[in-house]
Amino acid sequence: MLLRVENPKVHYDVGEGRVRAVDGVSLSMERGEVLGVVGESGCGKSSLAMALLRLLPSNARVEGRGPFDGVRLPGERLRREIGGGAPR
Ligand SMILES: Nc1ncnc2c1ncn2[C@@H]1O[C@H](COP(=O)(O)OP(=O)(O)O)[C@@H](O)[C@H]1O
Ligand SMILES: [Mg+2]
Repeated sequence: MLLRVENPKVHYDVGEGRVRAVDGVSLSMERGEVLGVVGESGCGKSSLAMALLRLLPSNARVEGRGPFDGVRLPGERLRREIGGGAPR
């Protein structure tokens, strides 16, 4: 198993409170497998993917661990280059 994510949660702190963007989308993938995530706009697809890649903006809060096995995640430098980590 390359990736197994159980019940990850992502929320965003916003002035008036919080936006619960991802709440319990468990998934698993084998190496070489392609997984599509489908859903209406705003349902949390990008937030889930960015959480897995550690590229969420700074107002995001994540619950759950990143159980990647043998995958190099973006370092700080790459993160800056591709623009992750800044609030929207
Ligand atoms: N940086 C952010 N701050 C506050 N809310 C956000 C931020 N990014 C995304 N959201 C909200 O989180 C929810 C999920 O967004 P997103 O993950 O982009 O969905 P999708 O990719 O499925 O369209 C939406 O309600 C969106 O407005
Ligand atoms: Mg998206």
